[in-house]
Amino acid sequence: MRHTVSRSSKKRQAGKTLKAIGVVTGGGDCPGLNAAIRAVYRRAQGAGLIVYGIRDGFKGLHEGQLKPLKSLEVAGIVAKGGTILGTSRYNPLKEGGLARIKTLLARHHIGGLINIGGEGTMRLSHQMFKQGIPTIGVPKTIDNDVWGTDFTFGFDTAVSIATEAIDRLHTTAESHSRIMIIEVMGRRTGWIATYSGIAGGADAILIPEQPFRLSRLLYILKMRQRAGKRFSIIVVSEDAKILLDVGTKTPEMLEVPTHRDEYGTVQLGGIAQLLEKELRQYLNLEIRSTILGYVQRGGSPTALDRVLATRLGVGAVELALKGRWGQMVGLKGTEIVSVPLNKVVRKIKSVEPELYRIGEFFFE
Ligand code: F6P
Repeated sequence: MRHTVSRSSKKRQAGKTLKAIGVVTGGGDCPGLNAAIRAVYRRAQGAGLIVYGIRDGFKGLHEGQLKPLKSLEVAGIVAKGGTILGTSRYNPLKEGGLARIKTLLARHHIGGLINIGGEGTMRLSHQMFKQGIPTIGVPKTIDNDVWGTDFTFGFDTAVSIATEAIDRLHTTAESHSRIMIIEVMGRRTGWIATYSGIAGGADAILIPEQPFRLSRLLYILKMRQRAGKRFSIIVVSEDAKILLDVGTKTPEMLEVPTHRDEYGTVQLGGIAQLLEKELRQYLNLEIRSTILGYVQRGGSPTALDRVLATRLGVGAVELALKGRWGQMVGLKGTEIVSVPLNKVVRKIKSVEPELYRIGEFFFE
């Protein structure tokens, strides 16, 4: 069940025993994290709480790297990209981490943690909560794949950057009569590709949720050429499913070699170049590919992301003050709501077929 975050004097009493909270940013950085940290600090400070800033994500929590945030540290950071706290992809619950964290929190009289992160961080927050550490999740990620919120902050900025990149690639595509492939991030979902593809007027959008046949892509590109259209723009999500069904009776998915980073997370990237190679076998046209990469995760957040991050940060502290741990704050329509973490972690939020269908109208 979803609950609207609202004031209630009875529940406010529950927050009275709370003296301090910790704030941590986990997973990949994204625009809006600093706006959220600032919001957590300001709302908590207004309620008389000490806010411990935990350094370098959950790795720092495991290592006991924390100290009270000061007003000056969060001043003027609303427009700044990245996270002033630092981040990492790390599971602090392994190797006796649980007892260690509990001792650490007790020593500093920290009543609970505000964990700002993506779906990995929400899963971790849920595990922590189940094992007796009070947590509240704040969803962030450029991927927009966290279930239980209409949008995560970071996404709007990433889409704006990707859309501008597509607009710029259009210029060269048109001037040189080329096929341009642009690869965007998104991991297991194609939100960035779908939004930036629609906004940038893509002629094909390839995402993980909608397997795409190579034969269909070739048909679209050839039809455009026949219709006198001198260029084409293909937006491909880094984990898109492309079925190689031309000249074979046993089609296979285009495989992108991946490797795991030092924390064991699968690293994606490079599908655009593989697709370019495939297309070259069948088309006598100029084809170029561009991987947008970390550019879409960096820099200043859009106004929309700053506002969302601020609202979610304030909402998280208000839940803590009411003693409502084990929840994630989210956006539902225009309202800030709370969703139990045990529901959030059950699935990821995929691109709705209806939204994708809108993009498909323009694949020709
Ligand atoms: O989850 C955000 C994200 O940027 C994904 O879109 C991408 O696949 C991944 O992080 C890259 O992770 P890393 O920063 O560990 O290379």
